[in-house]
Amino acid sequence: MTNKFNYFIGNWKMFGDLSSIRLIKKISINLNRFKKNKFKVVFCIPYTLINSYSKQLKQSNISIGAQNVHYLYEYGSYTGSINSKMIKNAGAEYVIIGHSENRINGDTDTIINKKIKSSLKNNIKIILCIGETNKQKINKQTNRILKKQIVLSLKGIRSIKNIIFAYEPVWAIGTGKVPNKYELSKNILYIKSQIQNKFKKAQNINILYGGSVNPRNIVELNSIDHLNGYLIGGASKSSKKFIDIMNKTYK
Ligand code: 13P
Repeated sequence: MTNKFNYFIGNWKMFGDLSSIRLIKKISINLNRFKKNKFKVVFCIPYTLINSYSKQLKQSNISIGAQNVHYLYEYGSYTGSINSKMIKNAGAEYVIIGHSENRINGDTDTIINKKIKSSLKNNIKIILCIGETNKQKINKQTNRILKKQIVLSLKGIRSIKNIIFAYEPVWAIGTGKVPNKYELSKNILYIKSQIQNKFKKAQNINILYGGSVNPRNIVELNSIDHLNGYLIGGASKSSKKFIDIMNKTYK
């Protein structure tokens, strides 16, 4: 295997209550089978669970992240919003920014850029999601869209040391469809080249794939070049499926 799968990240979306931590604890026990620091496991969970989970998992091998954040660095009169200082204070080490489910709710590349800057300032690691819609794919705009998302969201950012990229084609999220091998490696390579173009000195660029990752397609996905891990939605709600995905990757 030529790939180095550095991250397995779960995105729970609107799932979970205080008792669901048992799922993560099971995964944590299974993780002990692997050599320490071989890869990192992160669970991005609802805001309401961050404080409790991060305290309970403090000594564990799993980190906690948020799924979104407001772009303001500090206080603002935005009813119902949470900023990066608040998620950090609650115990989050990571945050997902630019997920397509938030882009359709108004997150533009400019807002995403502000969210990244404010989170980096608060020492939070970013999982930046990019990806084309089905319409854009059909119209052969994938490269143009990926480039635009990368360039605009990283405007004015000097280092990507604390940024992980997640390629999530919108049409593959929650649909059971995944890009074919050729398509996926071509797009991953394109993303990598765009990032390298902008950050000439960047070493370790991490690009994850997200969109209908499950124990049935993981072996095929693992054969795709240049992938550094996965952002997993639906299958992260099952400890068995998540463990299966890890175990099939690192047999
Ligand atoms: P699914 O794995 O459910 O397709 O979701 C992917 C996703 O949106 C992860 O951020």
